[in-house]
Amino acid sequence: MDNILVIGAAGQIGSELVIELRKAYGSEHVFATDVKQAPPDIMEGGPFQILDVMDDKQLIHFIIRHKINQIYHLAAVLSGNAEKLPTQAWKINMESLMNILEVAKMVEEVKKVFWPSSIAVFGPTTPRTDTPQLTVMEPVTVYGISKLAGERWCDYYFNKFGVDVRSLRYPGLISYKTEAGGGTSDYAVEIFYQAIRNGSYECFLNKDTALPMLFMPDAIAATVKLMEASRSDLSISCAYNLGGMSITPDQVYREIRKEIPGFNITYRPDFRQEIADTWPQSVDDSLARKDWGFKQNYDLERMSRIMLKEIQNKLK
Ligand code: SER
Repeated sequence: MDNILVIGAAGQIGSELVIELRKAYGSEHVFATDVKQAPPDIMEGGPFQILDVMDDKQLIHFIIRHKINQIYHLAAVLSGNAEKLPTQAWKINMESLMNILEVAKMVEEVKKVFWPSSIAVFGPTTPRTDTPQLTVMEPVTVYGISKLAGERWCDYYFNKFGVDVRSLRYPGLISYKTEAGGGTSDYAVEIFYQAIRNGSYECFLNKDTALPMLFMPDAIAATVKLMEASRSDLSISCAYNLGGMSITPDQVYREIRKEIPGFNITYRPDFRQEIADTWPQSVDDSLARKDWGFKQNYDLERMSRIMLKEIQNKLK
């Protein structure tokens, strides 16, 4: 059985991915790490350690000591926060990836790496609907630039050194367990919390801003599926487009109103509107479907019902 390292286990994706990986590979084989404490089920349900991916010496020690075979590197500064601290975000997003790629190159036991890319790799010159896998990419955000550069580095390490890195261009991810921090698509998480807590929400994007989104269980299933696919089935050596559903704040609002009729929304677009305006409204993910069988199980209606129920339980 492979030993797996998850970096960023306290985050929005990590806190759910660790649980699924532990089910599939056995708790003792999944090492959850982060620079901060993680939710109790992550810290108590298997090995957990505070680990800073920026510290390359500590990282390589950890990987050798625990005989790690697969690495999921999920730690990153998201789009909104990266605009506030550009050089710091660049450093964190890039240096951490380079540390991982170098370790994977040096340590023979490390067979596979997962690193998330994002729809933020696209920019204002990219076709905005049904964005193709292969297209113009001129991102204008720090986060997007770091993800595009990261994709190129992953491709480079695969072709030059045979490091098996796999990646997905995640759309906005919607989940209830751990609130995301500082992303442009995160209104779609906040809105559910605020609807339950306050019955009202002030949205930082315009009513009709369409963005591609995916419910977390679909994102986790896609991630595990890509990592378990045979390398020979993968026709590209960089990140796969992942589209999911294309939704607007107004559509989410209407869906919530079905369950909370008094729910009220106001719109006050901030700097994140400019970011969203450069991202795709919908993404063509047919290659992911064809190569390794990506499937989306949750639509807006089904996802919203689960979000409301789970957040209600959580806030009780
Ligand atoms: N969801 C991320 C963000 O908004 C994009 O990958 O920053």
